[in-house]
Amino acid sequence: MREGDINIDESRQGEAIHIEQPSAPSTGLKMFLESYGCAMNFSDSEIIASIMSDVGYVTTRDETEADLILVNTCSIREKAEERVRNRLKEFKRYKLKNRRLVVGMLGCMAERLKENLLEQEKLVDLVVGPDAYRDLPSLVKQVNGGQKAVNVLLSREETYADVSPVRLDKSGVTAFISIMRGCDNMCSFCVVPFTRGRERSREPKSIVAEAHDLFNQGYREVTLLGQNVDSYKWNLDIKGIIKDSEQPIVRFAELLEMVAKVNPDLRVRFSTSHPKDMIDDVLHVIARHENLCKYIHLPIQSGASSMLKRMNRGYTREWYLDRIAAIKRILPDCALSTDIITGFCGETEQEHLETMSILKEVGFIMAYNFKYSERPKTLAERKFEDDVPEEVKSARLTEIIKHQRSYASVLIQAMVGKVYRVLVEGVSKKSAENFYGRTTHNIVIIFDKGDLSLCDYVNVRALDCTSATLKGEVTTDQADA
Ligand code: SAH
Ligand code: SF4
Ligand code: F3S
Repeated sequence: MREGDINIDESRQGEAIHIEQPSAPSTGLKMFLESYGCAMNFSDSEIIASIMSDVGYVTTRDETEADLILVNTCSIREKAEERVRNRLKEFKRYKLKNRRLVVGMLGCMAERLKENLLEQEKLVDLVVGPDAYRDLPSLVKQVNGGQKAVNVLLSREETYADVSPVRLDKSGVTAFISIMRGCDNMCSFCVVPFTRGRERSREPKSIVAEAHDLFNQGYREVTLLGQNVDSYKWNLDIKGIIKDSEQPIVRFAELLEMVAKVNPDLRVRFSTSHPKDMIDDVLHVIARHENLCKYIHLPIQSGASSMLKRMNRGYTREWYLDRIAAIKRILPDCALSTDIITGFCGETEQEHLETMSILKEVGFIMAYNFKYSERPKTLAERKFEDDVPEEVKSARLTEIIKHQRSYASVLIQAMVGKVYRVLVEGVSKKSAENFYGRTTHNIVIIFDKGDLSLCDYVNVRALDCTSATLKGEVTTDQADA
């Protein structure tokens, strides 16, 4: 992981994040909360922390002293689940020492495996899916009363719009705002529609209010989160018909503009865009507001139209390239990143080469590359054979990483010499004398602390770079970006 990569969802998939929250009226009960998976899961953990703090649970960083251990899990690839299972086995051992200890599994694995986790695997006492967190306090009570407890009901409405998240990123500079939940896309490889349910958008007023609140607390960057942010819609049904004629219609472009107007000093990012739904309106809004960061994560998955069809992604190579052309036309200085899956069902050498060639053609500053991992119940599991041998998957992955690195390195080197407006985000992990921050392009830059503070904006001239990070010096010169 790169320095300061806290607000890039894909980079933290499968990674454990330990969480501490400010204390509420204490009951003496301690909770240890560990989060795996994407930024949406991390954001959910902030909601869980809020709900549990209302009933008196204080968090601890020491799992051995906890009365309640909650693991917010991810199912995206088999490895992510394996990691959680091993961790739960460790937690189960603590129960031998502390009979009162309650262990709960939350999130996507809970939704996927449901009661099996209690009955067959006997790993946990409590299983709670992503739409049932309001029920957590009563479920924990039920377990304390000697029963096992499960709630994996998915909802068509739940957005936790009124729950005020407990901010878990201690630095107080950047925060996530969840704008929607679920996904209606059914990409054939993906488990998310099964674990997160139907897509639903959160009321825009509550999103803007949350952004205002964060700004007033001193935060200077928010990331709007959804599995497909371009599909955000308020007051429109799934067919695009208006629900309430008294209410305004808000799509993603409008929402983005509303959040951009909260304050010019509040930077706004978003994740994830979907190539099939990304329209020019969104790009024009980004062009109009300096505080909307010039960085778009646009997962491609494959560069071959035949493969994209099997993946049920809803676009072709040509469509994707047309969207890239629109970005380059409307936002000439916008950085791009992507996700790629290697070795999906039936992937031919030719299809792999098409993915390699699109990487070169587009020029991504960052790519998150994954080996295909078959997930139960998905369209691909039912329809196709997972027939690319493991060695071929790995070899293709290595080849993609190698080439992608070289393309990204050219882009990063081209940034050297320029001056960037940077938000000071934290102390560099490598040197206490340095701060790190990000450019609008989401590139981490390291510079001398001087008399700067967290949350300041500062102009930094890039002087040098490693493969993914810039080094620079603070300057009074005007910023190029
Ligand atoms: N909603 C986002 C992605 C969410 S999952 C989108 O549509 O782009 C993040 C990434 O995990 C995906 O972009 C994909 O590259 C990867 N992924 C999802 N399912 C996978 C699987 N079964 N095997 C390997 N990688 C997978
Ligand atoms: Fe999964 Fe596709 Fe939805 Fe992304 S858009 S979460 S990849 S189904
Ligand atoms: Fe994982 Fe669920 Fe996110 S499967 S990637 S935690 S939506």
